[in-house]
Amino acid sequence: MVYPVELIEEVRLRNDIVEVVSSYVKLERKGRRYFGLCPFHSEKTPSFSVEPVKQLFYCFGCNKGGSVIQFIMGIENLDFPEALRMLADRAGITLPEPDDNEEREKARIRREILEINREAARFFFSVLAGRDGLEAQAYLKKRGLTEKTIRQFGLGLSPSGWSELTDRLKAKGIPESLLLSSGLSVRARGGELVDRFRGRIMFPIFDIRGNIVGFGGRVIDQSQPKYMNSPDTPVYNKSRELYGLNYARQSKSRKLLIVEGYMDVISLHQAGIDYAVASLGTALTQMQAWILKKYSEEVIIGYDSDSAGQAATMRGLEILEKTGCNVKVLVIPDGKDPDEYIRNNGPEKFKNLVDRAISLLDYKIRVNNNMHNMDTVDDKLKLLNGIADILAGLDNSIERELYIKDYAAKYGISTESLTSEVEKRRKKQQSVSAGTALVRRPVGLGGKIQLPVRMDPRYGELEYMLLVMLCNDNSLLGMVLDRYGPDGFRDQGAKLVAEKLFGKLADNKSCVLAELLTDLEPDIASCMVRIAETKCNAENIEKAAGQVLDKLELLKLEELQQQTIERIKNEKDGLLRQQLGLEFSKRAERIAELKRLS
Ligand code: GTP
Ligand code: MN
Repeated sequence: MVYPVELIEEVRLRNDIVEVVSSYVKLERKGRRYFGLCPFHSEKTPSFSVEPVKQLFYCFGCNKGGSVIQFIMGIENLDFPEALRMLADRAGITLPEPDDNEEREKARIRREILEINREAARFFFSVLAGRDGLEAQAYLKKRGLTEKTIRQFGLGLSPSGWSELTDRLKAKGIPESLLLSSGLSVRARGGELVDRFRGRIMFPIFDIRGNIVGFGGRVIDQSQPKYMNSPDTPVYNKSRELYGLNYARQSKSRKLLIVEGYMDVISLHQAGIDYAVASLGTALTQMQAWILKKYSEEVIIGYDSDSAGQAATMRGLEILEKTGCNVKVLVIPDGKDPDEYIRNNGPEKFKNLVDRAISLLDYKIRVNNNMHNMDTVDDKLKLLNGIADILAGLDNSIERELYIKDYAAKYGISTESLTSEVEKRRKKQQSVSAGTALVRRPVGLGGKIQLPVRMDPRYGELEYMLLVMLCNDNSLLGMVLDRYGPDGFRDQGAKLVAEKLFGKLADNKSCVLAELLTDLEPDIASCMVRIAETKCNAENIEKAAGQVLDKLELLKLEELQQQTIERIKNEKDGLLRQQLGLEFSKRAERIAELKRLS
């Protein structure tokens, strides 16, 4: 493995599986487990479970299971190193550069791209400051940006020629392959490399450590597209960056305000609202939600109030809420974006708006009320039904009652009738499901039942059982080693897992199942969790393990008997035949004994 096992284990331990899963699936506690609708196949009643003590998930419907790492691999469609990185980020653990050649090479490429980006940003900055930058400078001034702000955000201008940046970087000896992977150059039809960004105001995108990971570029005129952004590269992944976070995380205020665009972030910072970040034209992702949670006590959504913005706000709110963020919504009058509002009304007025940001529930009610008017009885009915739907989503009964009283009075209906509508909806919700999957199903996984891993038909299941039992009770090690060492494993998958487990235990360390699973293939992890859930629940583990060992021994003995029969048939030498016959009957005794035991 590429990373040290201790580090992988630390990442696992610092990401509680219930918390992580909760940001994708609505879970409800039942006894010592949590249940929800499986995000890996479609179902109407929850069979997806999370076990907090064991830190495992398992779906009784599709048999998918594993540790928190396999959960992230499955739901985010990531491979192991990507999932590990995502969870390490979530827990604030810095992964070292792995000491594996391939990974080292990737790390070297990342470093070089960061260096290229820095060089490009310097170049763009100098173009903006130079003679060719006058028009762009005038534009930025017109939009109210000061010199200081331009410098703070490292704004620049990409020249309007075809390949000025590319040529410059090439002249410095940077190979074409790197220029392409940095996203700064693209291959033209004639085969030569040209600049991706031409004649645009350039916004370097900084990561948290202040590295320049990508760029956004805006036209100065009305041409289209208005913005162009770096593609995803080895250093840039738009689903995890938040523009402005490098500054916002240093803000004294404990909040973060999430807005839509570069210009919003920049003019907010200039106006002293130094806790603004942007998700850059993409829907808020789970990774971004985790990051927002990590760096703030309160997250305020300040998206546009047009219909696209409203949909984005709703989605963002749901993700942030499930992630456990304290969320509010900023309402800007007249559908202005934050940048425009500040320029027209000044920072103080904007700060007032921030103080009056509304709760998730109030926001939902507002959107509902905007959708219906109150002209006819029918309209009014739709509006109130909408309110009942929203209130039914409140889990706290005191809160529910308070709001019901409030809204009943506001719309002139009786508390009783609104209460009964809300309760009716809650009953229905509960009977349909105890939980709801909150995220889109990962592509390609919807409805698919996990196929069992290819196993040796006779040995596989028993060998995996033995390994699960050994995880459940590490003190069985001596007994297992005596009777069934790693060399004896017949199933190839189980053998690899056995070597890993025996290795961990031989180092005099303990190992629980979730730990063993962390870096296993998802289908092997699923198979082991299925076996753990369905076949290893005996009260007396030692006795159960003894029985599995007996069965395995029996299988091997019977195999040997078959071979011996063949050999006796073909053996010409009478003495040897006799010896084989002796072996055969000795084994037959043991077989009889084992059969009696089982
Ligand atoms: P101004 O129009 O200069 O005020 O910029 P803005 O940042 O307010 O942009 P806007 O509100 O129109 O869009 C919000 C964000 O969406 C931008 O900052 C970009 O990240 C992204 N975006 C907007 N237009 C485009 C586009 O044409 N292409 C791409 N790829 N992204 C865009
Ligand atoms: Mn704008």
